[in-house]
Amino acid sequence: MTSVRATRVNGSSNSARFVARIHEPGGVIDDLIQRLRDAKSVFVLTGSGISAESGLPTFRGVGGLWRTHRVSELASPEGFARDPVLVWTWYNERRAAHGSAQPSVAHRALAQIEPLFDDFTLATQNVDSLHLRAGSRNVLELHGNLREARCSVCEERRSLEGGMPLEEIEHACGGRFRPQIVWFGESLPQTEWRFAAQAASRADVKLVIGTSGIVQPAASLATGYGAGWVAEINPEETAISNLVDASIRAGASDVLGRVAERLYGGSLSGGRPLSSS
Ligand SMILES: NC(=O)c1ccc[n+]([C@@H]2O[C@H](COP(=O)([O-])OP(=O)(O)OC[C@H]3O[C@@H](n4cnc5c(N)ncnc54)[C@H](O)[C@@H]3O)[C@@H](O)[C@H]2O)c1
Ligand SMILES: [Zn+2]
Repeated sequence: MTSVRATRVNGSSNSARFVARIHEPGGVIDDLIQRLRDAKSVFVLTGSGISAESGLPTFRGVGGLWRTHRVSELASPEGFARDPVLVWTWYNERRAAHGSAQPSVAHRALAQIEPLFDDFTLATQNVDSLHLRAGSRNVLELHGNLREARCSVCEERRSLEGGMPLEEIEHACGGRFRPQIVWFGESLPQTEWRFAAQAASRADVKLVIGTSGIVQPAASLATGYGAGWVAEINPEETAISNLVDASIRAGASDVLGRVAERLYGGSLSGGRPLSSS
């Protein structure tokens, strides 16, 4: 059963930290599933890696948006003040890409397992709405979303269905419509942050999926709140790998597809395997 190659790292005195690669299924998934079965409260933090399998580029990964654009020109209040048309052109393209993407097995697996727990919170750094489209309910969007724009002066909102017409960026009040996104240098929405910090603090199990752990304060939710067991699911080592209890070096859909099927005793959606969309 335990055919996973597992390596203990950093020799922690009170928690065994493991790095495991699931070339074959085995012990690390068994451990994760047992902890989930015992858990009363689960907290999940996701980043752009979970949407990589839906075809959306991460910021730092191969083909990432930061390779072709300077983020300060695109995702900051200063960049928006300098060139709102460039910024909206980029966000319109991203919004269109989100619209044509489909939730991955990983997104759907998280939505499937949510009702198994009394207390389940999913905080995401993503702005692509894929968790909501997959059916997750208790979702906290820490960095906003691309469903709406808001006026920077009077706070009026407008839907972004169909994108933001570039000739309508300027609002009648004298302000400008901007994406409902948390830009670099801006604060996270207070309510979402408070709920996320509380959920992270009370969780027995925390899953940290597809995030490099670099963008703060979101990354601190993974390791800085509460005493729950923390598992990271990411094919690469990250900035927080040495702080978590287990690092599962594999793609999010591979791991979460197995987890959901096992939690449901191998039968999901009337026997339809989760891995076939
Ligand atoms: N889809 C989106 O909404 C989207 C896309 C790009 C960036 N962002 C924003 O980028 C910021 C960057 O932080 P971040 O940590 O989310 O992204 P990041 O780009 O810094 O890191 C992505 C991580 O995902 C991992 N990854 C790649 N493929 C994976 C897979 N199949 N399964 C699991 N993990 C995988 C990578 O190894 C990397 O560690 C966030 O603020 C977020 O708002 C969002
Ligand atoms: Zn206005």
